[in-house]
Amino acid sequence: MSVAIVTGGAGGMGTAIAEVLLADGFRVALLDRRGAPEAAARFGDQALGVEADVTDEDSVRTAVDQVVAAWGRIDGLVNNAGIELQHTMADLETITWQATLAVNLAGPALMIKHCIPQWRNQGSGRVVSVGSRTWLGGATSASYAASKAALVGLTRTACRELGALGVTANVVAPSFVRTPLSAVKGDSYGERFAAASPIGRLVEPVDVANAVAFLLSDRARAITGEVIHVTAGTHLAPHIP
Ligand SMILES: NC(=O)c1ccc[n+]([C@@H]2O[C@H](COP(=O)([O-])OP(=O)(O)OC[C@H]3O[C@@H](n4cnc5c(N)ncnc54)[C@H](O)[C@@H]3O)[C@@H](O)[C@H]2O)c1
Repeated sequence: MSVAIVTGGAGGMGTAIAEVLLADGFRVALLDRRGAPEAAARFGDQALGVEADVTDEDSVRTAVDQVVAAWGRIDGLVNNAGIELQHTMADLETITWQATLAVNLAGPALMIKHCIPQWRNQGSGRVVSVGSRTWLGGATSASYAASKAALVGLTRTACRELGALGVTANVVAPSFVRTPLSAVKGDSYGERFAAASPIGRLVEPVDVANAVAFLLSDRARAITGEVIHVTAGTHLAPHIP
């Protein structure tokens, strides 16, 4: 049975990703710095709650070891944990910049690093990093946009470096999705995204989860180094006010 780790597994998108992967027959480790056991408990014995902080290397190492000890393999790593702190360029503070890059960029790098020994043993593995449409240039936070653009560089580097181990690595880049992370932006923000969408709709967590599941599946075995936008077409919108 295939095994996936979903970081940020107790959050809005993480829960939806876990649900779809479980339906696809995966065992899923929901890794989160808070609420992981509770989130996993909702899904039964094919789900494992792993409390860990992706910014802390010891914590990441222990978490990966815990999953391998429980289930013996790691087929998919979904780098989904993320934070978004709103600020203008003029208001940028070092602490915000560092906190954002620690979770959104160093976190995925550490997760990939500590999965490599297992992928080397298996001769296979899949990385899907949850980026953001904002990697194209964001209106609400330079630190977030920079972290998500750098996540593309990180994931593409993993694609090149780990390909020989049978590992594929891709990014799923959603636009606005209603979750606890985006709640701070308010309802009207979502309405503006739906209005800017050529198909007139908002992206839902399950839409992102379906793209992740596809990239983890054998159907995507020849896709690597790619960025899949799950934006209802809003990555084509020049500016969403
Ligand atoms: N919601 C959106 O509009 C949107 C749009 C594009 C991309 N995204 C991306 O989707 C991903 C998931 O976001 P979400 O909307 O579900 O947010 P969310 O706040 O609901 O979930 C994020 C989860 O990450 C966890 N987390 C944060 N820091 C962590 C750390 N150091 N270690 C372990 N876990 C940590 C949180 O505890 C939380 O459960 C993020 O990477 C986000 O940037 C979200």
